[in-house]
Amino acid sequence: MDDYLWWRDGIIYQIYPRSFADSNGDGLGDLPGITARLDYLAELGIDAIWLSPFYPTPDADFGYDVSDHTAVDPRFGTLEDFDRLAAESHRRGIRVVLDLVLNHTSDRHPWFRESRASRDNPKRDWYIWQPPSRSPRGGPNNWQAAFGGPAWDYDETTGQYYLHMFLAEQPDVNWRNPEVRKAQLDVVRFWLARGADGFRLDVFNAYFKDAQFRNNPPKFGLRGFDRQRHLYDCDQPEMIPLLNELRTILDAYPERYAVGETFFATPEKVLHYSGPDRLHAAFSFDFNSSGLRYPWNPAWLLKQIQRREALFTGEHWPTTVLSNHDISRTATRYTHGEQDALAKIAMALLLTLRGTPFLYYGEEIGMRDVPLRRGEIMDPPGKRYWPIFKGRDGCRSPMQWDDTPFAGFSLSKVQGRPWLPVHPNYHQRNVAAQNEDPDSLLNFTRKLIALRKECPALRRGEFVPLTTRPRDALVYLRRTDDQTVLVALNFANKTIRAACTPPLPEDWQLLFSTSGADLPHVNGKNIELAPYEVCILEVKTGR
Ligand code: NOJ
Repeated sequence: MDDYLWWRDGIIYQIYPRSFADSNGDGLGDLPGITARLDYLAELGIDAIWLSPFYPTPDADFGYDVSDHTAVDPRFGTLEDFDRLAAESHRRGIRVVLDLVLNHTSDRHPWFRESRASRDNPKRDWYIWQPPSRSPRGGPNNWQAAFGGPAWDYDETTGQYYLHMFLAEQPDVNWRNPEVRKAQLDVVRFWLARGADGFRLDVFNAYFKDAQFRNNPPKFGLRGFDRQRHLYDCDQPEMIPLLNELRTILDAYPERYAVGETFFATPEKVLHYSGPDRLHAAFSFDFNSSGLRYPWNPAWLLKQIQRREALFTGEHWPTTVLSNHDISRTATRYTHGEQDALAKIAMALLLTLRGTPFLYYGEEIGMRDVPLRRGEIMDPPGKRYWPIFKGRDGCRSPMQWDDTPFAGFSLSKVQGRPWLPVHPNYHQRNVAAQNEDPDSLLNFTRKLIALRKECPALRRGEFVPLTTRPRDALVYLRRTDDQTVLVALNFANKTIRAACTPPLPEDWQLLFSTSGADLPHVNGKNIELAPYEVCILEVKTGR
């Protein structure tokens, strides 16, 4: 299989720039910091980095409120620093994916400053303005903001409401206005010309809202935003022609890519938005629900996998995400204490399923959410909903490089206090320590990434479950015409014999196992696995 395509066959590593590496000791990570750490990423074996926003921002939503889409926030560097980062990444075979936040801007963006200045400002229609309604609540309709409260804010100066799906400091732009559409697509063109290989599109399926501003119907939920069916504030039909246009722009360059962050994601929705004339991919977050709705067990996981396997065929390619900057880290959700056995199972799942793996910075060393006191919370929804929801800061703490002060976050002699506390476990849990330990999660991850690269079946092969009603283990094949690989994951802290249907072939060779070098006991119907074993075999025949 020599048609290796980076965004399909490779691994994309998400960096939250303010937390990855700080080149100048001001306590905030920056672009030169990332450049300085590229050798680490190259050695890890990833194919691309996705950079969460580094554009100028007043930080109401830590970068997801952009005040200039075609510049670098001076705290993160300069455009020249971006050029250097892109060039140095490319020199190492690493592609660069940028995060584009085009659903809304910061309220300090010059477009919004003009728009709110007066009703007859030429940019008035660049945002979504509506007169007050006669309803007692005053807002034009019942739409709610994802971060709490109504989605409409009243502007005293001009006597109208503007729409914001997130914070009031993040007004939604009006994609129906042709000038807005052109200006936004010019942002895409700007970064393509500057060397970006692709884009992650923030809440892309919320760009268009119902033209008649109809009320959303109610549904059961805890917070106001969850108590509605979002029929009219996202997923409008106008999105498809826009995606067609965007794809034409991308396809004018070789191997460019766009992945959408799907609001209210389901695999079915992703299918609708991706394909040859739409996005290359979109997140369906199949394994990310949290709390009671997330029984982290083989049976539930298999159900999720099979649901997406049935849908993502032909031109549709899935993504696999376990962690990102919006949710609690994988290791915090699925493991206890500092044990990494289950974190290895999660990593093995991420790297052996069919679909592009997205690895979140620090996931490869099993970083846990940093525990924070209420007064340390920075994230707006965390401040608002504490203690029901403690916000997203926990998963955004500084990368743990070594056991020097602040975990080696700062590369300069000046050691500024990082913007968020470093997790206290950094003395033991850091890149330097895990480099030295052959059994560390980091070395495990490196080996699996290398294995995935070597094995066409792991990258592109079909998924064939062998455990139909799994209790403790997931066992599956990944199979192409030329190669069959078996993956067995024991989620239990005990030795088990996983029953497989159909019966297994006899002749295997061991590609990888966490339980030593011996071939596990495989007889026709069973495979024996050590506690928490991750085991990968290849059928000897047929290759
Ligand atoms: C989704 C992003 O992932 C999240 O971090 C952000 O707060 C919202 N979109 C608003 O941009």
